[in-house]
Amino acid sequence: MFNKEKLDAQKAERQNWEDKKIAKVLAKNPERKAKFTTTSGVEVKRLYAPEDIADLDYNEDLSYPGEYPYTRGVQPTMYRGRFWTMRQYAGFATAEESNKRYKYLLQQGQTGLSVAFDLPTQIGYDSDHSLSEGEVGKVGVAIDSLKDMEILFDGIPLDKVSTSMTINAPASVLLAMYIAVAEKQGVSAEKLSGTIQNDILKEYIARGTYIFPTEPSMRLITNIFEYCAKYVPKWNTISISGYHIREAGSTAVQEVAFTLADGIAYVNAAIKAGLDVDEFAPRLSFFFNSHNDLLEEVAKFRAARRLWAKIMKERFNAKEPKSMMLRFHTQTGGSTLTAQQPDNNVVRVAIQTLAAVLGGTQSLHTNSRDEALALPTENSVRIALRTQQIVAYESGVADTVDPLAGSYYVESLTSEIEKKAWEYISKIDEMGGAAKAIERGFIQQEIQESAYKYQKEIEKGERIVVGMNKFQIEESAPKGLLRVDPQVGELQKKKLQDLRAGRDNAKVDQSLNALRKAASGDENLMPYIIEAVKEYATLGEICGILREVFGEYQQSVIL
Ligand code: 3HC
Repeated sequence: MFNKEKLDAQKAERQNWEDKKIAKVLAKNPERKAKFTTTSGVEVKRLYAPEDIADLDYNEDLSYPGEYPYTRGVQPTMYRGRFWTMRQYAGFATAEESNKRYKYLLQQGQTGLSVAFDLPTQIGYDSDHSLSEGEVGKVGVAIDSLKDMEILFDGIPLDKVSTSMTINAPASVLLAMYIAVAEKQGVSAEKLSGTIQNDILKEYIARGTYIFPTEPSMRLITNIFEYCAKYVPKWNTISISGYHIREAGSTAVQEVAFTLADGIAYVNAAIKAGLDVDEFAPRLSFFFNSHNDLLEEVAKFRAARRLWAKIMKERFNAKEPKSMMLRFHTQTGGSTLTAQQPDNNVVRVAIQTLAAVLGGTQSLHTNSRDEALALPTENSVRIALRTQQIVAYESGVADTVDPLAGSYYVESLTSEIEKKAWEYISKIDEMGGAAKAIERGFIQQEIQESAYKYQKEIEKGERIVVGMNKFQIEESAPKGLLRVDPQVGELQKKKLQDLRAGRDNAKVDQSLNALRKAASGDENLMPYIIEAVKEYATLGEICGILREVFGEYQQSVIL
């Protein structure tokens, strides 16, 4: 962007300033730290200037929003045309309770739904399974059958709202239930918009709600890609997640690198299953974290868009522009919340919200101030939503596209993150891809080392967490936290008894036998799962058949 002579003159002037001015100042007043770094260990210089972005080519590296490589955003007008979707992750106890919370959030102005399921649902057990004891409805809503899903969305028009479902191993079953509920509302599948997380690799890496081994899991995932491309064209078939990788302690660079490496594995699996890249890639989506280092997070999102665009164009030869657009949801960093002085978390979430918006997110969940302690109360979730609304309507940052572009620091950090992420992706390529790298524990090991380093910095006081390792106060245990009724398990068991007594069990058995047969072959399983769901086969029964045929995933390394 700059000519050589001018640049050399610039560098000479800079050196002169350092030698004359800075040397004198430092002699009298040394800086706070010997070295400043981002959470990814990238050194943060005292000052950035034109020479730091001398290699940046506007048309090559930035271009315009909505234009390849999408560094400045995926939509030409971004938030001037439409704000990001305000989509609070929510769900607890019974479908009735969660339905109430969704209606409250929609009434308070949120613009998309996001379903949190309890752990038994996420690992494919009914509420009356012995392994579900004590977990029913605890970290999300208990869904055992289509009956619960009908209650969950009662009075919510599925042709008017987009719904995200955080479900992975049993994603096909919950998607089938959602399609069936919509049908009962008179809404056809091609009208449905939403997302299922459906990202099993990050479950092996960081989150742990997996069921089946890699191969059958990849088959179920690509079955969904194929089925939705044909029958649910507005459905985002996967939310390739970096959120949990970051929550497990990765750096920003690792978050981008490992998430995109997972993305590459899914694209390879779909192509191997015979799908055309431009048939499924436009409906891949992503999910990232937003931490406190605001400018590093902005640079991370911009680097991720540019990397994915290049990967899809150069490696997979995608032709359709939408195949190259990295569209993502962001959740503010749960692991940055402190149990101490919970009101401080409102400020952290505001900073993280700004980072996500300045980074061009399509959808956003803001954590509530009490979430380090319990699921959010109505009060705290309203403040979290209001934080998004204040940034949207009052801060001005949504009124122009990618406002930090051209910043000497942000642009050089965007390029640095891209470079470092690329080095990781190349290493994972050499190992044979993300699944292989996970099998040998490489990704998990890298994350653990970063997590350990970060924790040591906090313990040594090198990294300050306000209220936790500095500026502490005496405080009593917070009151009025949300408590999930322990009776939820009993309630769900009763509902299951009534369900099994009231359904046509011959038809249920027939649909489950057909599923078992198809699972033993190589057909797309979605039609069989939809059939079973419509007969009110339970989530546990359906996943039980798949466990029988596929077996269960075994951790290959214990770290
Ligand atoms: N001009 C014109 N059109 C525009 C526009 C503009 N400026 N901005 C948006 N639009 C259009 C879009 O093109 C889209 O239309 P299309 O579907 O026909 O293309 C429509 O408006 C909606 O816009 P988006 O698709 O950008 O927004 P959505 O909110 O619908 O989708 C997404 C966003 C990221 C693509 C989607 O995948 C999504 O919603 N993901 C959410 C995932 C999520 O919520 N995950 C929660 C996980 S919780 C968890 O795991 C943590 C727990 O474990 C602790």
